[in-house]
Amino acid sequence: MSARRAGVVGLALLAAACGGSETSPGKPAPGQQRAGDFVDLDPAPDRVAVHLIAAPAEVEILEGKSTPVWAYRDGAQPEAPATVPGPLLDVRQGQHVEIRFDNQLPVETTIHWHGIRLDASMDGSNISQMPVPPGESFTYSFVARDAGFFWYHPHLAADEQIEAGLQAPLVVRGGTEPDVSAERFFVLDDIKVESTGERSEVITQLDLMVGRQGNVLLVNGQRNAEIEMAEGGRERWRFVNSANGHFFNLTLGGASMRVVGWDGGEVDVPYQVETLLISPGERYDIIVETTAASGEALVLRDAYYDRGHNLPDNGPKDLLKVNMGPAVAAPLQPLPLEWGSTPRIDVDGVASRQLALTEVMDDADPAAEPVFFINGERWPDVTPTMVDYGTTEIWEVVNDAEMDHPFHLHGMFFQILDIDGALPEALAWKDTVMVPRQKTARLAVTYDAPGEWMFHCHILEHAERGMMGHLHVME
Ligand code: C2O
Ligand code: CU
Repeated sequence: MSARRAGVVGLALLAAACGGSETSPGKPAPGQQRAGDFVDLDPAPDRVAVHLIAAPAEVEILEGKSTPVWAYRDGAQPEAPATVPGPLLDVRQGQHVEIRFDNQLPVETTIHWHGIRLDASMDGSNISQMPVPPGESFTYSFVARDAGFFWYHPHLAADEQIEAGLQAPLVVRGGTEPDVSAERFFVLDDIKVESTGERSEVITQLDLMVGRQGNVLLVNGQRNAEIEMAEGGRERWRFVNSANGHFFNLTLGGASMRVVGWDGGEVDVPYQVETLLISPGERYDIIVETTAASGEALVLRDAYYDRGHNLPDNGPKDLLKVNMGPAVAAPLQPLPLEWGSTPRIDVDGVASRQLALTEVMDDADPAAEPVFFINGERWPDVTPTMVDYGTTEIWEVVNDAEMDHPFHLHGMFFQILDIDGALPEALAWKDTVMVPRQKTARLAVTYDAPGEWMFHCHILEHAERGMMGHLHVME
């Protein structure tokens, strides 16, 4: 199935269930396929080819004001509007995906396919690829090995380029396909804008310390977003947190949220949550069900989460209004009992490796910028961590700092063994894990991808100011 056809199937499914009321032209419902999502240029069923452009653009965030951004768009649809986030790359597990990328930005950039297992030369990281200069092109390609929800973004001055708007979702379909009345993809972000609509140039010490803090929360680029859910329906929502530093702590009163997938695919046993914490870079796949009746409304909110450094509690913020619409046309099949079948990594007798995350702030000097370290070293002045291809180790990521850090590894997934002794809620593949302050995450990693990979905190100001390391998997 092509990327385009996969999307159309998703829409048809929704239209059948909701009487087609949701796909009004002009303003697409957040979470659905939008105009501007990719057209597949390769007719072969096992191949997807798309044309991706990064270019300056303008979007509307504050009503009636234009916000200059850098945005991804589909080069195959010259008339398609620029959007932040960029087009959804929608492929099937096993497909060969080729992305011709044109850099029309005034700066050099790269694209990192966050969470996708691929050849190191396609990873778009600072150590695996030369930057793509302005006006030049690069063709990325990979086989979509794992079904899951991913995203793509630059890996160069990422704190500036991702904040400027370069971020987009990527779904690899496959695996369990539960019977749902709608499927949605949500990119959660915050942005710092002036009242003129312009992006703020102001970077405070706090921004450097905890990651740039936006004053507007966005769901798929929209504030005060709304969707319509069918009464009696059941929806599958996939989230990615693309913010520089904001932690989203989701609540959805009046509905149940059941987690069925993490970064790299399905969990073994789905579990129910009251709040869903998503740190920068992480993804969660949930099933939403409610007994709310047509005409009622639910609100997805971002609740306060204490992430350290005594950040003030600004109270819950509304993210998305869910208006209940007419009932689903036909009853849904029960949810499957069996989900992911991730084989547990055997860590019996394997070596452990410590990675200590630290931060230093010179309180005596008000102009001093905070700096960040892994094992006492600051990117780019780091000693590569050399490991052997095919071996397994335990990574002890020790957060020896005063705030939580989301830790991301490129090129391969890991499994969470425990966080300060607490077992994870489920077994599933992860590529980004939130390590709470003064706690240690123990991760099982099998080095199944040769080459040069990065690992770093996904608070982008932290990564760009030192909290980034280099893993060399030697064949
Ligand atoms: Cu999403 Cu190295 O990053
Ligand atoms: Cu960090």
